[in-house]
Amino acid sequence: MIDTAAPLASPSAYADAVATAVQAAAAYYADGSTPLGDDEYDALLRSIAAYESAHPGQALPDSPTGKVAGGAVTGDVPHSVPMLSLDNVFSAEELESWAAGLERRLGRPVAAWCVEPKLDGLAIAARYRAGRLQQVITRGDGLAGEDITHAADAILGLPAELTEPADIELRGEVLLTQDQFEHANRVRADHGATPFANPRNGAAGTLRAKDRPYRIELTFFAYDAIGPEDLAHSALLEHLAALGANTAATTAARPQHCAGTTEVQQRIEEIAALRAELPFGIDGVVVKADLAADRAEAGSGSRAPRWAVARKLAAQHKVTRLLGVEWNVGRTGIIAPRAVLEPVVIDGVTVTFATLHNPADIERRGLMIGDQVFVYRAGDVIPRVEAPVLDARTGAEQPIAFPEACPRCGDAIDTTEQRWRCIRGRNCQAVASVLYAAGRDQLDIEGLGGTRAVQLVEAGLVADLADLFTLTREQLLTLERMGETSADNLLAAIAAARTQPLNRVFCALGIRGTGRTMSRRIAAHFGGMAAIRAADAESLAGVDGIGTEKARVVAAELADLAPLLDRLAALGVGTAVTAPAATATAAGESGTGDTGGDGGPLAGEAVVVTGSMTGALADLSRNQMNELIERAGGKASSSVSKRTTLLVAGEKAGSKRAKAEELGIRILTPEEFATLVASHLSA
Ligand code: IVH
Repeated sequence: MIDTAAPLASPSAYADAVATAVQAAAAYYADGSTPLGDDEYDALLRSIAAYESAHPGQALPDSPTGKVAGGAVTGDVPHSVPMLSLDNVFSAEELESWAAGLERRLGRPVAAWCVEPKLDGLAIAARYRAGRLQQVITRGDGLAGEDITHAADAILGLPAELTEPADIELRGEVLLTQDQFEHANRVRADHGATPFANPRNGAAGTLRAKDRPYRIELTFFAYDAIGPEDLAHSALLEHLAALGANTAATTAARPQHCAGTTEVQQRIEEIAALRAELPFGIDGVVVKADLAADRAEAGSGSRAPRWAVARKLAAQHKVTRLLGVEWNVGRTGIIAPRAVLEPVVIDGVTVTFATLHNPADIERRGLMIGDQVFVYRAGDVIPRVEAPVLDARTGAEQPIAFPEACPRCGDAIDTTEQRWRCIRGRNCQAVASVLYAAGRDQLDIEGLGGTRAVQLVEAGLVADLADLFTLTREQLLTLERMGETSADNLLAAIAAARTQPLNRVFCALGIRGTGRTMSRRIAAHFGGMAAIRAADAESLAGVDGIGTEKARVVAAELADLAPLLDRLAALGVGTAVTAPAATATAAGESGTGDTGGDGGPLAGEAVVVTGSMTGALADLSRNQMNELIERAGGKASSSVSKRTTLLVAGEKAGSKRAKAEELGIRILTPEEFATLVASHLSA
């Protein structure tokens, strides 16, 4: 959360800040869109206020400070009593000093407080005569608002008739609950309309709209009224509920009576903790002096009452840049777009990726690469991209390219549904994972290329890695273009794969974040598949180079793979127990990731390989070179740093060689290196 506002250094910086704030407020109150996130807007207002108090003579007439809605909006229906805004505090300390200020002003402690959610919608006033709804008005500039009576019958919780024939004006917030928001966007999609970016934007647009061919329901929460005098605020809320109006008392974040600021702070924490589960958005918690006498005596300023304050919570909607879109294929073949974002902190968490639903949704939202976009994150939900900030376009934005073939297996895409899917469905995953497992750096099964993998999967013979090891000669011979020799060769290659070392069998599982290097480290650390299978996130985090986040992902995937691991174990694949390699274990446990341990000609060496290998090493892939280095007691790495102690530089070695020379690192030719590790070459 932003709780420090950047100081404005000059009159022109101040004038710019005022212009930006006025523009943002106008957009926010017009249709809920704004080029600024809420946190940024609040910080901007605080900078402006700080500048004005330091330079009292320079305040501009259109400055948003001291004005309801930042002075951005007006209306033509005068309010009976001004509809005020609220002052904000951003921390427990600021709240304490605000409360102390109020108590100083009153000359006595505030007898009781009422603490309630700050609903993230739009304020309205609803006038009733003899219990019948007459007119609904927006807040506008606080003195006059717009007539939106036409929208009243779509607002749940705002009855056309009260339970008593009262003359009263209800005041409260209109919003879209999460369910209403999702429903509204489905309805809009059916009508080919742009989805609402977020519930607030949807509520603003819906209250204004007059001629829509569809109906969108909203929800009202009453939090104030003009009419009943002398009631404590908590009693007033009960009265409003008894009249038939909806109040926050119907929610888990119900208003609570608190005796002192300790209780107030506690209830704020409780409401903040409930935020993610509430069925509607809140952007803070409102603290109000409960007794009518305290409120009357405290009075109000031109913009806000002195008896209430909003303790703002970090914004859940933030603006950042859409850098790219990735297309990921799920287990069932669904091809899901994922936004790659310029990292942005939302409510204390750095967000780099967000979901984008499906291609049709991307088109409806009109998103482009390079756009400033609204991103929403709450609680544990997956962050999502809401909408582009159209005003922020520069012309350099690029269209989002949709895939023409399945990004995993390369086959066609079924685009008949909103969610695109590889035509292979679940088999897409099977073909891709079998192909990966059979690859040269994994199980190295010669004769199992793309066509064969597709044949095996489509014939229903192979659905996962374990099935490969159950294939019989008879089964293979049923496949087209599979002669006896090919079948025998393939079976022999599969039989050889059974005895591949643990790191390769583990790598063949294709667990996210575990490529060849990480698989070698995990294999060396645990020494056997049974130990890997039993590993939890904590023990995985003990492996060199696995952070806690990756450890969590690997542990979760291992848990998912348990049935497959059981079958592989029963089939004798990857069951050989390898003594943990002294090197990688030592590196892991030392926590330095530095160099290897004792034993072998490369003990203590951190080795990088570059260029093409020749002589005895000519046929080795990079992975095989790295395996060789580790067998010989060294630690393999892919980039040259000051920790590197040895570079094996083959033909056409480029920048890595130059860097090693610059750092004075020992450099060997492939032939010299082969001699050094000769005794480990054939292992
Ligand atoms: S009391 C004079 N209570 O927040 C009374 N306002 O940022 C002033 N709001 O204009 C309002 N939840 O639109 C109050 N429980 C609540 C509220 C609430 C949301 C809105 C209201 C107000 C704005 C100020």
